[in-house]
Amino acid sequence: MRITISVFLLFFLLSVVLSLGDPIVTCSGIVPRKHRSKMLSISDFGAVGDGKTLNTNAFNSAIDWIRKTNTSDGTLLYVPRGVYLTESFKLTSHMTLYLANGVVIKAVQDTKKWPLIDPLPSYGRGRERPGQRYISFIHGDGLTDVVITGKNGTIDGQGEPWWNMWRHGTLKFTRPNLIEFKNSSNIVVSHVVLQNSPFWTVHPVYCSNVVVHHVTILAPTDSPNTDGIDPDSCSNVCIEDAYISTGDDLVAVKSGWDEYGIAYNRPSRDITIRRITGSSPFAGIAIGSETSGGVQNITVENITLYNSGIGIHIKTNIGRGGSIQGIKISGVHMEKVRTGIKISGDTGDHPDDKFNPSALPVVRGITIKNIWGIKVERAGTVQGLKDSPFTNLCFSNVTLTGTKGSPIWKCSDVVGSTVKVNPTPCPELTATAQQGGTCENQT
Ligand SMILES: *[C@@H]1O[C@H](CO)[C@@H](O)[C@H](O)[C@H]1NC(C)=O
Ligand SMILES: *[C@@H]1O[C@H](CO)[C@@H](O)[C@H](O)[C@H]1NC(C)=O
Ligand SMILES: *[C@@H]1O[C@H](CO)[C@@H](O)[C@H](O)[C@H]1NC(C)=O
Ligand SMILES: *[C@@H]1O[C@H](CO)[C@@H](O)[C@H](O)[C@H]1NC(C)=O
Ligand SMILES: *[C@@H]1O[C@H](CO)[C@@H](O)[C@H](O)[C@H]1NC(C)=O
Ligand SMILES: *[C@@H]1O[C@H](CO)[C@@H](O)[C@H](O)[C@H]1NC(C)=O
Repeated sequence: MRITISVFLLFFLLSVVLSLGDPIVTCSGIVPRKHRSKMLSISDFGAVGDGKTLNTNAFNSAIDWIRKTNTSDGTLLYVPRGVYLTESFKLTSHMTLYLANGVVIKAVQDTKKWPLIDPLPSYGRGRERPGQRYISFIHGDGLTDVVITGKNGTIDGQGEPWWNMWRHGTLKFTRPNLIEFKNSSNIVVSHVVLQNSPFWTVHPVYCSNVVVHHVTILAPTDSPNTDGIDPDSCSNVCIEDAYISTGDDLVAVKSGWDEYGIAYNRPSRDITIRRITGSSPFAGIAIGSETSGGVQNITVENITLYNSGIGIHIKTNIGRGGSIQGIKISGVHMEKVRTGIKISGDTGDHPDDKFNPSALPVVRGITIKNIWGIKVERAGTVQGLKDSPFTNLCFSNVTLTGTKGSPIWKCSDVVGSTVKVNPTPCPELTATAQQGGTCENQT
């Protein structure tokens, strides 16, 4: 009797759940949820949120305490309302940095005293300047189980002096990222505002199991190279529900630079990017241009872009090597963009003149469907390499209006198919007739 009732109840609950329609898919499951039983307040370590006091020692001693104590389910470091000026600091494993509502953690603007760290092996040098690079404002290296969250508090890189050094050509080393996790796993960044990064905003590199969601990322349109989120040689990454408006690509998947990235050989793979809204003078969603370790199995869905340079940009170059495969992009809405879709084999600079010009990238298996755009000046540019044509490209249900001038589509050294694409695509993309009218069965 009891069993029948339970079974009945189970079916009842199941049908209720099903009748609610498709639940929104989320990043849950990528990083185990943690309940921190221990909590500390940064105030207990002498922090003063008056916008003037330098709080570097408070952050360092609180985090040292967490590192040494290492409680079994980790420690939450609470930052109460206030404006906290600090130099860069390093996180530790098994911790949550929690920003209450009304918190601003502000980076000092003294660029001369900013610490330097080694370049990434997959880049062989700093991305902007040879040699070392400045450490990120908030840094994690070799960590696991770290969360940065709260009630929409702000982490402000105050990047202006760094942008000016770039503009005036006076940068000695590569600018700092706002948040970098290197060689780390089980990382979550959520419910925070990240603004005015000196360089890329969130940079997970050599990481696995990373979630970035419910974040707002802001930087002025003219701030140089302020990418939003750049997973770099990472796997199992989920990025969703973000508003991003910066001076460069909103999300860019990378995996190392030319001969250094080829030698390091660490791909970016198994990455989901969904429900991102925003505007960029460059690309909304990008893959590249540093893709030397390869980029595989990337799913991009439900993206809304406006006032942007390029909607979707897959970019690589000779000397990069690496393969870009299994990219599925669907549900992109764009308004007022210069180029809707760009796939290019001639984009990006080289670390030095030691790159191997015959290390050609392989680009195959790119599916782009359900794309809708208005006020799109140029529908698309799809240009592979003569000695390594881009293959198995499939575009379906793509409608881009507002194109002016010609060519509307520009294609070379590519092979692919199209179904229901407006305006009419170039002949290179109509090589094969697609069965069933979709891009399914693409590899
Ligand atoms: C810290 O605690 C975690 C979780 O209990 C444990 O897995 C890890 O080995 C500990 N680390 C050190 C350095 O004691
Ligand atoms: C990565 O971090 C782990 C600790 O999580 C450490 O044991 C390992 O040496 C690090 N690897 C590199 C290449 O830094
Ligand atoms: C968080 O703050 C940003 C910037 O002030 C704001 O645009 C956004 O709506 C806020 N998000 C939430 C969930 O309150
Ligand atoms: C592709 O990546 C998704 C996560 O984005 C993952 O769930 C799936 O298992 C991956 N597929 C393969 C074949 O590795
Ligand atoms: C698409 O994103 C919008 C907001 O960004 C959201 O309201 C909608 O539910 C999303 N749809 C799906 C299928 O994820
Ligand atoms: C075509 O794409 C648009 C825009 O994303 C979408 O609203 C529509 O449902 C798609 N049509 C089909 C048949 O999938």
